[in-house]
Parts: sequence; C-alpha cells; structure tokens
Amino acid sequence: MSLLNVRGLTKLYDGVRAVAEVSLDIPQGEVRALIGPNGAGKTTLVGMIAGRITPDAGQVVLAGQDITRLPAHRRTRLGMAYTFQITSVFARLPVAENVALAARPHMPRADVPGAVQAALARVGLTDPSARAGDLSYGHQRLLEIAMGIVQAPRLLILDEPTQGLSEGEIDGFKALVCDLAAQTTILLIEHNMDVVMALADRVTVLNAGEVLMTGTPAEVRADPGVQSAYLGAP
Ligand SMILES: Nc1ncnc2c1ncn2[C@@H]1O[C@H](COP(=O)(O)OP(=O)(O)OP(=O)(O)O)[C@@H](O)[C@H]1O
Ligand SMILES: [Mg+2]
Repeated sequence: MSLLNVRGLTKLYDGVRAVAEVSLDIPQGEVRALIGPNGAGKTTLVGMIAGRITPDAGQVVLAGQDITRLPAHRRTRLGMAYTFQITSVFARLPVAENVALAARPHMPRADVPGAVQAALARVGLTDPSARAGDLSYGHQRLLEIAMGIVQAPRLLILDEPTQGLSEGEIDGFKALVCDLAAQTTILLIEHNMDVVMALADRVTVLNAGEVLMTGTPAEVRADPGVQSAYLGAP
C-alpha cells in the first residue's frame, strides 16, 4: 500500500509555477530520494506535503486519508515528521530539551527521558546539556533528525540533512538511515549523489517544478535527460 500519495500539487509564486502538478506515490517502507537542481521546487514540494506551505492546487493523501487541508501540527500527529533546510531548533534550549519538546505530544511523560536518550544516541549526539545554538550547523541538522525520530514517525521527511556534515558524519548518517528504513518510510532531499545512490530505493527527479522521472538510482544515473538537467551541472 502506498503511504504517501501526492496528486497534482501546484504552487505559484508571483504567477510562476515553483511546483507544477507534481504527483508522487511512495509505498510504505520505501526510501525515496528527491533530487533536482537548485530552485527545482524540492523544498516547496515537501513544504506542501508537511503542511507548511498552502498549495494552489492538488491533494496530499497519507495512508488513504486526505490531509490536504490539515495544518502541519495535525499532520505531525498522524505520523509525519520532518527536518527543514533552514534549521529550526530552539537555540537557547539544551539539546535534550529540544528533543523532549518534540517527544511530549507523542508519548506518556514518563517515557520522554528514555526516548530522548535513545534518539540522541541514534544520531550520535553525545552532549545532551549543550545549548542547541552552540552546535555546529551539521550537528543542528542531526539534532533535528533526533527531534524527528523521537516521534516514531510513519513518514520522515529530510531536507538536505547532510549539508554541513563531515565525511565521517555522512557515513554515520547513511548507517542511521539504513537502520531507520526498517521502521519508517523516508523522503530524502539530497544533493550528495553518493548518499542518494547508497540509500534510495527509488529516486524522483524534479526540474523546474516538474517531475522529470522516477526510477531506481541506476536508472536515474543512466538517464540522459537527468544528466543534462542535473548530474552534468556543476
Ligand atoms: N517564499 C517564496 N516566495 C517566492 N518565490 C519562492 C519562495 N520560495 C521558493 N520560491 C521560488 O520557488 C522556486 C523553487 O524553490 P525551492 O526552494 O522549492 O527549490 P529547491 O529545489 O528546494 O532548491 P534548493 O536546492 O536550492 O534548496 C525557486 O525559483 C524559488 O526562488
Ligand atoms: Mg531546497
């Protein structure tokens, strides 16, 4: 069964179609990568899926339920978690408290500390009392992932999670996603093609707001249209 079904999603900015009639079908358990050049509409698309951006047309269906008109917090309650390209941690709060805030709506209070500890261990953040704002950009992204996974989501959306991570941290991230993929469907926006090739079951390529193709990593890499639109680009 498909967990996420997107039909004809469209967003106009000043009359220009940032996302133009995009349809996607993501089966339960899949790791789907979303790639495309800068400005292709990736963040706008997942913003509409998550309920942060109101579409001009189209539908978002999660596990058979039409959620197009639900606000973001209601979608979170239905099992959608996401991290965004612009980090949105609470900079003045400790790392652990950031994760606890994300956890509390999803579990009994007594379960929160254990869940926080487990989520931080999973992403490899070792200092729960550090101020979130003092972490490096890459570690703030990992903190956001911890805030996502502590919710035990059905669908986890990650917008360029490896940006700002070192090579070693990217290896850790790959292992984390492989581990998470056993429990969660993942939609991953990612510019690092090594990460895409290593993790994705299938890849959707967006270009100028439209789906250019969806295929396996090997199919996408071999496609001449994708190469000229994206992979050949600097
Ligand atoms: N709030 C906004 N107001 C006006 N135009 C916007 C807004 N947000 C995005 N756009 C435009 O919509 C298009 C798609 O942008 P979007 O950020 O979704 O692309 P992206 O694929 O995520 O790019 P990147 O790889 O750089 O993150 C771009 O042309 C962008 O300039
Ligand atoms: Mg983006």
